[in-house]
Amino acid sequence: MSAIRQHLIDPEVCIRCNTCEENCPIDGAITHNADNYVVDVEKCNYCMSCIAPCPTGAIDHWRMVTTPYSLEEQFSWDELPDDAEPAANAETRTNADHEALEDEATAILDVAHQGQQGKVKPPFSAAHPFINIYTRENPAIAKVAGNYRITSENSDSDIHHIVLDFGSTAFPVLEGQSIGIIPPGVDGRGKPHNMRLYSVASPRDGERPNHNNLSLTVKRVLFEEDGELQKGVGSNYVCDLQKGDEVQVTGAFGSTFLMPNHPEANIMMICTGTGSAPFRAMTERRRRKRSPGDPGKMMLFFGARTKGDLPYFGPLQKLPNSLIRKELCFSREPDQEKEYVQDRILKCGSDVAEWLKDDNTFIYLCGLKGMEIGVEAAFSKICEGNGLNWDTLRTAMRENGRYHVETY
Ligand code: FAD
Ligand code: A2P
Repeated sequence: MSAIRQHLIDPEVCIRCNTCEENCPIDGAITHNADNYVVDVEKCNYCMSCIAPCPTGAIDHWRMVTTPYSLEEQFSWDELPDDAEPAANAETRTNADHEALEDEATAILDVAHQGQQGKVKPPFSAAHPFINIYTRENPAIAKVAGNYRITSENSDSDIHHIVLDFGSTAFPVLEGQSIGIIPPGVDGRGKPHNMRLYSVASPRDGERPNHNNLSLTVKRVLFEEDGELQKGVGSNYVCDLQKGDEVQVTGAFGSTFLMPNHPEANIMMICTGTGSAPFRAMTERRRRKRSPGDPGKMMLFFGARTKGDLPYFGPLQKLPNSLIRKELCFSREPDQEKEYVQDRILKCGSDVAEWLKDDNTFIYLCGLKGMEIGVEAAFSKICEGNGLNWDTLRTAMRENGRYHVETY
């Protein structure tokens, strides 16, 4: 039997207020007896309607199982079964597929997060992410609702905006998380392809507000090997998808590269190319949710070869300066000095220093691995000139969930 992520309620924390049962839209998915509130695995459709209203958080518990816990078992519990050490008879509940997927995603993300130089926490005000809900064995099936090229026609950089619709399947995501795409077919060794991670480019409530969809920003990877042009498997699969095609999706993944939700937070975003995807999501979330007078600011440093190579160049221009300060820089624009993001950060040094001094500042880097060294050097130089020490500040920011790097 394939593994599933079973939704359970913690009997030790639950105050038996009946809120979950009242909010559950599916008749009988949440029930109770004199002892416990329980979730019927046959009926729960992961719609998450019960999660937010629960006053204690008792509702928010999950176990990967191959043999789901029955209602009778749940009614008998005084506490939840241990997640880390399954009960003696529970070998059947271990889930090699789930663990393999978690390992695969963790390994990819560990490499992507190396630039943080240590483990980082999520921002204190980040929302609770759901991770690893869908696996290789149990992927969500999404339908392509649209696929649009978003770099200019004459650009060498072919970047697409893809909208995936999940229909009636719940697929909760937060800005900054990634999803896994499993390209169909097998690799050169006859094994199913590894999944590829892609950052979600839309806010948690959907590409279109309150629709069960999300968007991606994917660059078609082409490279030369042995003198021949080769196509990257995952990116070409995604960029060639047609409206109506079905895609196998895993995840979501990532529990630290998340945005702060308190209105005082200043968010500094630094990216190249498709590294802009999570920042599109964070910016749109702020745009939808902000109230007049909210003090938190946003600033974006975005590097591309030319204007035509910069994904979302048009829509980005339209965002008001009151929402986000845009520092776009180009390395190959004719008649213009070559400029990388780190050069622009240095040019904005005095403003950046003010941001660095503010405990409400959260910094995010995403995109080319190569930019990390240059960006770090720029921060270091700005710190030197403003009575700060970058190494000390970075460590403190990282430990407070305020410095995040995701590069690939
Ligand atoms: P593969 O078939 O895996 O081929 C890769 C091969 O291509 C490599 O062996 C290398 O030799 C070569 N290659 C790869 N890239 C290049 C290059 N740029 N130049 C030259 N040679 C190259 N990608 C996005 O487009 N959008 C995203 O939002 C996104 N988010 C990501 C988030 C995370 C956390 C991570 C880790 C990666 C993300 N990626 C994103 C990268 C993505 O996962 C794939 O790695 C990328 O699409 C290439 O996969 P592929 O299957 O097309 O190439
Ligand atoms: P360039 O390629 O002109 O040197 P890409 O188009 O390959 O996704 O890259 C996006 C942008 O990042 C380009 O402007 C590219 O410049 C720039 N870039 C390349 N290397 C670095 C680096 N080490 N630091 C910052 N930006 C870089």
